[in-house]
Amino acid sequence: MRTVRILLPRAQDTHSLGVALARSLHPGDVLVLSGDLGAGKTTFTQGLGEGLGVRGPVTSPTFVIARTYPPRLPAGLALIHVDAYRLAGALELDDLDLDAEVAQSVTVVEWGSGLADRLSEERLGVTLTVDAATEARTAVLSLHLDPARADEVAATVLALGGEPC
Ligand SMILES: Nc1ncnc2c1ncn2[C@@H]1O[C@H](COP(=O)(O)OP(=O)(O)O)[C@@H](O)[C@H]1O
Ligand SMILES: [Mg+2]
Repeated sequence: MRTVRILLPRAQDTHSLGVALARSLHPGDVLVLSGDLGAGKTTFTQGLGEGLGVRGPVTSPTFVIARTYPPRLPAGLALIHVDAYRLAGALELDDLDLDAEVAQSVTVVEWGSGLADRLSEERLGVTLTVDAATEARTAVLSLHLDPARADEVAATVLALGGEPC
């Protein structure tokens, strides 16, 4: 599994990471976002939505468990935004009964942290952190993808100034 890290000094950098990653995503991809409240999960997802070209605006799915943003163009991918905060820890994506939709879309699941391992074998983990002392923000991407795709996604992050870790 490849892991890459990137520093995100400004909110715009978190947004841009989402925009850039959107270009290397395929139908059926699942991104698992971890990070405390305020770490930038929604900012990142808004970037993804922009990169995918979905009909927005993408907002925090606070009052619904999952929201689907359809693509603006017929050839585009929909974005499914799932908020798993309030669900049981052992929940699997299967339990949401989104299978058919997930296969044709890009799915982002927001978790608090650490609950995501059994969600999907092929997935991109995105962990957003804010250093308590310096407030420096970092994203760590864990690319549970086949090697060719992991290389492609890693290259996208390296091109933005990221580094292997
Ligand atoms: N890399 C960053 N640097 C500085 N501020 C950021 C960064 N990423 C996001 N923010 C800001 O932090 C706040 C919380 O971001 P948000 O995406 O709502 O977090 P979450 O969804 O994880 O709770 C927003 O005001 C956002 O603009
Ligand atoms: Mg949020």
